[in-house]
Amino acid sequence: MSDPKIVKLVDESSNRSSELPLINGTLGPACIDIGTLYKDTGHFTYDPGYGSTASTKSAITYIDGDQGVLLYRGYPIEQLAANSSFLEVAYLLLNGELPKPEEFKTFEHDVSHHTMMHESLKNFFQGFHHDAHPMAMLAAAVASLSAFYHDDLSVDDPADRKLAAIRLIAKMPTIAAACYRYSVGWPLRYPRNNLEYVDRFLHMMFEVPSEPLQMNPVAAKALDLLFILHADHEQNASTSTVRLVGSTGANPYASIAAGITALWGPAHGGANEAVLKQLEEIGTPDNVESAILRAKDKNDSFRLMGFGHRVYKNFDPRAKIIREMCHKVLAELGVNDPLLDVAMKLEEAALKDDYFVERKLYPNVDFYSGIIYKALGIPTEMFTVMFAIARTSGWIAHWIEQHETPGSRIGRPRQIYTGSDVRDYVPTAKR
Ligand code: ACO
Repeated sequence: MSDPKIVKLVDESSNRSSELPLINGTLGPACIDIGTLYKDTGHFTYDPGYGSTASTKSAITYIDGDQGVLLYRGYPIEQLAANSSFLEVAYLLLNGELPKPEEFKTFEHDVSHHTMMHESLKNFFQGFHHDAHPMAMLAAAVASLSAFYHDDLSVDDPADRKLAAIRLIAKMPTIAAACYRYSVGWPLRYPRNNLEYVDRFLHMMFEVPSEPLQMNPVAAKALDLLFILHADHEQNASTSTVRLVGSTGANPYASIAAGITALWGPAHGGANEAVLKQLEEIGTPDNVESAILRAKDKNDSFRLMGFGHRVYKNFDPRAKIIREMCHKVLAELGVNDPLLDVAMKLEEAALKDDYFVERKLYPNVDFYSGIIYKALGIPTEMFTVMFAIARTSGWIAHWIEQHETPGSRIGRPRQIYTGSDVRDYVPTAKR
């Protein structure tokens, strides 16, 4: 076996040095292990935004941002989108392997039988104003699960961790639908366990007591595909948040609630809501040019929502799939949405504009997803909630992986202090 590769870092001012081993993953660039750097040289590293920093080892998801590749447990996203279902993908993320038929049956049964929320939790919704943002309600309700399902849960017990994962994946659609129904003043709907995951969710969202719901199967298929594409994305802001909270030993519901709040921001999952609002503001393809000019103007904070990504410097492979699906779904549902014309014109204009080309800014997962959600009748404020339902599978897979990793430590970054030097307290009369 060849010697492990080492990077040597020398601080010439102090003549202290550190020999830093390179760590190879299965795929992707080797990483410099800086674990001993502070002890050896007395220096920290500085990387705000973590552009060059791997925070953990993980075997769940791989992204090659230059090539536009996304793998869940080694399987290309395109193959999963074409052949799998969201629940099968959730199993894959959690367990590392695609399920055999019996394994899937058990998983589906377990998820179906944990879909109800505690009756007392339903009362929580009454405390919100009718126009509360559903992400606020979702975060609060999921954090509140800690009060109902945490008593005897040990984060160190693999069976308890698995149960928490099943509960979260099962209850998230029930809670999400409750957020929507409360906002429109409809009675909350119980989950129907004889339906499949996405179909069950759509019934909880849209079925009213007065008549049965006639749901176009195209809608369930489209939503299932969107859930697959949103299920995981390695150490993004919300997943890193879940891991940071999880590293303190916090319970899984608290950890996932933190992920939900991180997802809400418009630079992350909140972008899908922002994209639709922006497309509506732009209004017609004729206004695209002025929107592009604004996005390029350094004195204007306006950005093209749904464009750009920290990791993808090529097409986001999920955006490619969603773009194609968007045309199909609208055609099959007989929806003619003029916003699709605005979106296509915007994409075309940005992709040939030097500003976007030089910065490698391509449409991301959120650019077309909103148009599909809208065609399915899902209100704009619920878009990020949709994302959260799907991403719960990834978040909880990461939370479990973190707890299964021996020697995990609390996450605790350092800083460069730029405040005042030490000084003496000045009494009030002398200030
Ligand atoms: N519109 C216009 N300019 C942009 C955009 C955009 N959407 N995105 C990046 N830029 C420009 C920046 O102004 C910067 O230009 P400069 O080098 O001249 O200063 C350059 O491109 C690099 O941008 P950064 O902000 O440094 O890139 P970063 O990796 O930090 O941010 C992010 C990535 C947050 C996704 C950013 O591209 C963005 O704000 N996009 C719009 C919001 C969005 O769609 N978010 C969803 C991302 S996918 C997800 O989280 C699910």
